Amino acid sequence: MEDRAKISSVIRQHLEAEEFFAGFSLRGQVDAGEFQEQEDDMAAAQRAGELEKLAEEIGQCRKCGLGSSRTNAVPGEGNAGARIMFVGEAPGGDEDAVGRPFVGRAGQLLDKIIAACGLKRGDVYIGNILKCRPPENRDPRADEIVACLPYIQKQIELIQPEIIVALGAHAARTLLDTTKSIGQLRGHFHEYFAGLGQVPVKLMATYHPAFLLRSYSPENRRRVWEDMQKVLTELGLPIPERQN
Ligand code: URA
Repeated sequence: MEDRAKISSVIRQHLEAEEFFAGFSLRGQVDAGEFQEQEDDMAAAQRAGELEKLAEEIGQCRKCGLGSSRTNAVPGEGNAGARIMFVGEAPGGDEDAVGRPFVGRAGQLLDKIIAACGLKRGDVYIGNILKCRPPENRDPRADEIVACLPYIQKQIELIQPEIIVALGAHAARTLLDTTKSIGQLRGHFHEYFAGLGQVPVKLMATYHPAFLLRSYSPENRRRVWEDMQKVLTELGLPIPERQN
């Protein structure tokens, strides 16, 4: 009889304890998906801060002669957590005047290309191989590329884009360390290697918008659009229908 009373008392205690502890929930408790989102937001904020610091460093850079001929350095801009990173050649006159990438005529065409992809400028990151304008918009020199390369490498490392779109021969050749022509490079994916132990990033090479403006043929437009469609497909993004 005594034993039975003991057993029911133990069972009651057990049930009470179960009920008591079941009522708790952590303040601000989040599910796994939300937790991941919060982590991603924190990582993006940290990356944005580091990109900001890098931009300040670029603003002080005098590693090559362009540091003294520029009006403004053009570090790059956009979403620190971008899935797509566009990399051009070097700032032109319009960019040098305001310190922002792709704001002139070539930039307006790039904006249209981004919009045709169903994206906004703020969804992507836009940078250049050279952060300062070469006088008279001449081609970048090898010594300038060597001096400036660590900046775009660091930006890629911080942003960790899923795809880099290299705009034109200078960007594609520099990032892929090749001497092939843009005609040979465009239209298929390559891999950008940041170095030993780093995950390679997919790279699509395509024509530079400034080239497209000079040679605005239906054929060239179609090629750039085909290159961008491959990028969208690779990212699992929908391909917008043409409006006209
Ligand atoms: N061309 C480039 O390559 N970059 C710019 O920022 C503008 C024009």
